[in-house]
Amino acid sequence: MGGGTKEFDIATTGKKLVIQELENMSDPQTGRILTGSWVWDSSVLLSKWITNQHQNEFDLQGKTVLELGAGMGIPGMTAALLGASHVVLTDVKSLITGLRNNVDINSLGERVKVGELVWGSEESWSSLVGNIPWLAHKIDLVLMSDVFYDITSMPELGRTLKWIVKGDETRVWCATEIRPWTSQCLYELMKEGFNVIELTNSLNSPSLISSSSLMSDDDPDENQPSFAVFQIVPRII
Ligand SMILES: C[S@@+](CC[C@H](N)C(=O)[O-])C[C@H]1O[C@@H](n2cnc3c(N)ncnc32)[C@H](O)[C@@H]1O
Repeated sequence: MGGGTKEFDIATTGKKLVIQELENMSDPQTGRILTGSWVWDSSVLLSKWITNQHQNEFDLQGKTVLELGAGMGIPGMTAALLGASHVVLTDVKSLITGLRNNVDINSLGERVKVGELVWGSEESWSSLVGNIPWLAHKIDLVLMSDVFYDITSMPELGRTLKWIVKGDETRVWCATEIRPWTSQCLYELMKEGFNVIELTNSLNSPSLISSSSLMSDDDPDENQPSFAVFQIVPRII
């Protein structure tokens, strides 16, 4: 769990992200622990995934990017370091100050904005778009890491994705640790009108994965947690 400062190399760019995790943060209203207060391995995996895709088939230069449930914001800030022109990192209100702090530490300036976005809340989405109007037009890439853990919140996440995703103009990439309830979470999203495509085979812990081995077919170590990257695509009716 969290606290302290961590550094992450962004492969082949020679750049680093510095992340300041929060100490024992809990939601002042509910008292529940804020899971986005520290870095989850899936965010490191997603950072490696987009770096790899940037080098191969999805040039991030000039792209617009939105991250949902960003926590400490590693994937979205990676996109900015790789050349995305506009990035918005979103999460619940109590995590916004920490996110902004991480953007400032990394001197990402005006290209990276931070805002509250509560899944399923139309008011929250409208308010974010009111502050950042380009969000209403075209978002090239949506990023999510480790957000498939609470089955009950999946319909809300699905509703938010419907407001955001514009046909095949918007790519949605998510990285997740594979847990017993992951497939049920993905099934709930499918019920909201999305197809879910697995882009990787099961992978070992991201700290053990180099960019080049992301695409390998090696068997994961059974004793390690396994991870995967998915693409979410709206179903055409
Ligand atoms: C397990 S954490 C992952 C954080 C970060 N993406 C990472 O991988 O390090 C899940 C994140 O989803 C956010 N989240 C959960 N439910 C949410 C909701 N209903 N609306 C907005 N964000 C939510 C949490 O606040 C938290 O930041």
